[in-house]
Formats: sequence, C-alpha cells, structure tokens
Amino acid sequence: MKNFWTKLKKPFFCLAPMSDVTDIAFRYMLAKYGKNRENKNQVVFWTEFVSADGLCNKFARKKLAHILKFSERERPIVAQVFGANPENMKKACQYIASLGFDGIDINMGCPDKSVINQGAGAALIKTPELARKIIQAVHAGIKSAGCDIPVSVKTRIGFKKEEINPWIEELLKEDISSLTIHLRTAKELSLVPANWDYIEKIKKIIKNSGKEVLLIGNGDVKDLKDAEDKASKYGCDGVMIGRGVFGNPWFFNGADVNFSSLRPSPEYGVGTLGKQKIHTSSVSVAEKLEALVEHTQIFDKELSKPKHKNFDVMKKHFKAYVNGFDGAKELRIKLMETKNAKEVEKIVNKFLETQ
Ligand SMILES: Cc1cc2nc3c(=O)[nH]c(=O)nc-3n(C[C@H](O)[C@H](O)[C@H](O)COP(=O)(O)O)c2cc1C
Repeated sequence: MKNFWTKLKKPFFCLAPMSDVTDIAFRYMLAKYGKNRENKNQVVFWTEFVSADGLCNKFARKKLAHILKFSERERPIVAQVFGANPENMKKACQYIASLGFDGIDINMGCPDKSVINQGAGAALIKTPELARKIIQAVHAGIKSAGCDIPVSVKTRIGFKKEEINPWIEELLKEDISSLTIHLRTAKELSLVPANWDYIEKIKKIIKNSGKEVLLIGNGDVKDLKDAEDKASKYGCDGVMIGRGVFGNPWFFNGADVNFSSLRPSPEYGVGTLGKQKIHTSSVSVAEKLEALVEHTQIFDKELSKPKHKNFDVMKKHFKAYVNGFDGAKELRIKLMETKNAKEVEKIVNKFLETQ
C-alpha cells in the first residue's frame, strides 16, 4: 500500500480540516510559507470536509470541486469526507481517490446540527456499526478507483460524555492507518479546554488491539513548540492544529507572529524544534500584511463569488492577521468594509505608507 503515514518523521504535525478556513487559498499560503524541504515529511495537510452525498450529485459535485483542488506543494494531503450513506461514501471516495490524494479521512466528529441530522459526523459515535460500514465503504471506493491509499478517521472522545471505550475499540476493528482525536465530546463543541490526559487511555486501547494505528492528538495547540511539547508529554505520534494557524501562514516553520510593536524589517532567525532546525520569530507587521494581501488575491482568483464563496469568508482571516500592533483596530474596521482583493491591497498599502 502507498501509505505515506508510515514514512512520516515523528512527531508529525497536521493542519486541521476547517470548513471555510483551510480552503485552497489559505492552504496555498500555509504551504508556501510553512512547508520546506526539511519538514516535508513531517507536515500533513487536510482539506475542508466535503459531503459524500453532494459529490454523488452531478450538479453539486461541480460546486464542490474547489474543495478538492490542491497543489503539489501541499503533499502529503488528505481529503476529508463526511456522510452516513455507505453507498454514497463508496462512490464519493472512488471519485476522491481518482484525484490523486495521499489519503482519505472520514469525519466522525463534527457536532454541527446540519451534519448530525444526516447521521454523519459525530452522530456516528452513536451508531458504531454504521461507522464501521462506512470505513469499509471508503476502502471499497478507493479500490474501485484502482487506487491504494490509506484511510483515517477523525473523531472525538464521545458524543455527550466520554465513551472512548467502546467507541475507539469499535473503530479499531476496521482498517485505519491513523486516528485523530479531538479531545472533547461533541456536546462540548470547543467550549471547554481539550483534555489531553485521554491520550494515554486511547494509546492503551490501540496497543491492546495489536494494530499499528498512528494516534494524532487535537485541541488547543498554540504553536509548533506547544505541539512538540504535547507530543512528547502525552506520547502521541502526531499533533493536529486548527485555530492556532489562523493569521499565520508561517506556522509550520515555527514562526511567532505575535508582536507588540511594529518591526520595520523581517528578522528571521534559526532555532531548534527537537533536533530539527526551524525559523523562529519574527515576522514583521509589513510582511504579515503583505501575506494578507497575497492570501486575499488568491482567494479572489480561486474562490470568490460568482465562483464559489462569499468574500466575507476572508473576513475571519482579516481579524487574525490584523491585530497586536498600533493601528490594527482602525485598519481592521476598514478592511471589514472591503469587497475584493483590490480594495484590500489599496487600504493595506496606504496603511504601510504611513508607518
Ligand atoms: C471554523 C472551523 C471549521 C471546522 N471545520 C472542520 C471540518 O471541516 N472537519 C473537521 O473534522 N473538523 C473541523 N473543525 C474542527 C477542527 O478541525 C479542530 O478539530 C478543532 O478546531 C479543535 O482544534 P483546535 O483547538 O486546534 O482549533 C473546524 C473548526 C473550526 C474552528
């Protein structure tokens, strides 16, 4: 099997799937500024999740195609899919596998009502037999595309309460290469701190299953150093980061983009993360704002309506890029009124001229 998971350097780091956030535009930025020759086999990207039912409908598939677009620089990249109908999961994964992804991940953790009401996402925690059928269907889909890529699952510690046992045991009866655990229940959403202590319990269950399944912890990781500390303290193979990457295309290079004052020029240094050399700090405000403009331009080119997404999707990025320096609030207010990349560029350039 072409299983990229087995070739990863540990601990490895995963970009979390985040709907309307880790789209092709933001992934392009994260890959360009964060993936390099040294960490190529240590950083795994996920797409936003995509509906299997949607992919089975000719018209909807066209509309969803942008979710499954990626560039070579993003590899290894895993496509995430959700659904509760094994037949549709099979068909959808046949299509996804044919696009050349390195793996397919099944979402079994989304707490959103629109997903739960379909019996998909975290609802599958309540129907483990169906969850197992879905894993089998995904394998069947991959096989019928003539491909041989690994299948993984991303889930939570339980639905309403912690139910690692028997939920994880059930999942381990199927063929999965990695398991990502968002360390909260579905009911908790992201409202309480992630409980990393559960990693130990899950590790034991994996060990007892006798299977080689990589364990990825997820929840509240701030930066790459924090990710490495958590991997070493709790003993998971990989760490997945979601909100920690907001506003930081340099994340996987270890850059710290929190600054308290405007720096006139970039000050890259080289530090270490474990044995690996990384670039540490410091991205200047100008660099960060230039990245914001570049990100917005790619969004406009690839995704902006009438193509796929409303320009407002970019605005949560504006909030993340534009803070922590003098004048950030005023700049943010102006950016919130924009409708396209040209307007963003004009406002940012004007701001930078005054600095
Ligand atoms: C805006 C947003 C969208 C998300 N979309 C997805 C998704 O498509 N699939 C998924 O498995 N999880 C999704 N998640 C959950 C994240 O992947 C991750 O599990 C969660 O944010 C916890 O990690 P963090 O504390 O590092 O952010 C989403 C989270 C956010 C904030």
